Amino acid sequence: SDQSAFDTDVWTLTRFIIETGRQAKGATGELTQLITAMLTAIKAISSAVRKAGLAHLQGMAGSVNVTGDDVKKLDVLSNDLVINMLQASYSTCCMVSEENKELIVTPKDKRGKYVVCFDPLDGSSNIDCLASIGTIFSIYKRVSEGEPTEQDALQPGSNMVCAGYALYGSATLVALSTGAGLNFFMLDPAIGEFVLTERNVKIKQKGKIYSLNEGYAKYFHPSINEYLKHKKYPQDGSSPYGARYVGSMVSDIHRTIAYGGIFMYPANEKSPKGKLRLLYECNPISFLMEQAGGLATTGTQRVLDVQPESLHQRVPFVVGSPDDVNEYLSFVQKFS
Ligand code: AHM
Ligand code: MG
Repeated sequence: SDQSAFDTDVWTLTRFIIETGRQAKGATGELTQLITAMLTAIKAISSAVRKAGLAHLQGMAGSVNVTGDDVKKLDVLSNDLVINMLQASYSTCCMVSEENKELIVTPKDKRGKYVVCFDPLDGSSNIDCLASIGTIFSIYKRVSEGEPTEQDALQPGSNMVCAGYALYGSATLVALSTGAGLNFFMLDPAIGEFVLTERNVKIKQKGKIYSLNEGYAKYFHPSINEYLKHKKYPQDGSSPYGARYVGSMVSDIHRTIAYGGIFMYPANEKSPKGKLRLLYECNPISFLMEQAGGLATTGTQRVLDVQPESLHQRVPFVVGSPDDVNEYLSFVQKFS
């Protein structure tokens, strides 16, 4: 049969990071090793999310009685995968995971120079209804010598070396940046490789969609509610914005980058710092968003400039197309 439609010189993500690593002065290949290990974990999580091997566990017609409790919960499994793959890559000294209260220190004999902050499976409330979920990570160089400490992880986002997310959506996608633009890679299950599908992605200057959990409006600051009113009842003759909210940040962010618009998880009376975590949710997303030409703010400050104080701290979070984020900031101004 005719195989001519086959790309015989395909840009896989592995190839892409080897190439980027080659071009960096004084690179040792350690970051390449780290990212490769992360991708292995992501492929395994993707497979687990898609219930590969389910028949094996359940019996073909559910006849074998394996209860849910005997199977590791997806978020725990994902966390174990990331930690084990990263430690085995000899490139990390410590990690911060949403699933672990304390800093995870790499065993001495496996240490390298990088610090990784990650959320192994974000949007966990969406797991049981089969909506999209994701993995988020950021990578820093360690700043201390000797035993790794929390200080290595409490760096402002502006120090970030690399960030990415994986979206387990209708396809599995990885968005990745090492600070030279944002690229998208799609998982080709036939070869188990991520293939470059969009280079140097840029977000629209202004979108037509707003995205937040508006159910909490009662508890929002008036500046937010005024802004939302302006989106729904524009006074200048323009059309109202569409509303989209999956409730799975990676999904909502990926749509925002792909179509433009604004995503927000603002502070509210019940959660004065919002819900989302600085180290492994807001910072990596902010880095990627800025690489795409977008903005990311807490409402008072650029997210990447926040000096972290604790591993699991939260910040109010507003990201997206530059015109939309700036418009939101003008409402913050009006009310301050
Ligand atoms: P999780 O880390 O427990 O999954 O929570 C994070 C998720 C984000 O993916 C999403 O943006 C947000 O929580 C949704 O929260 P809410 O249900 O309050 O709208
Ligand atoms: Mg999370």
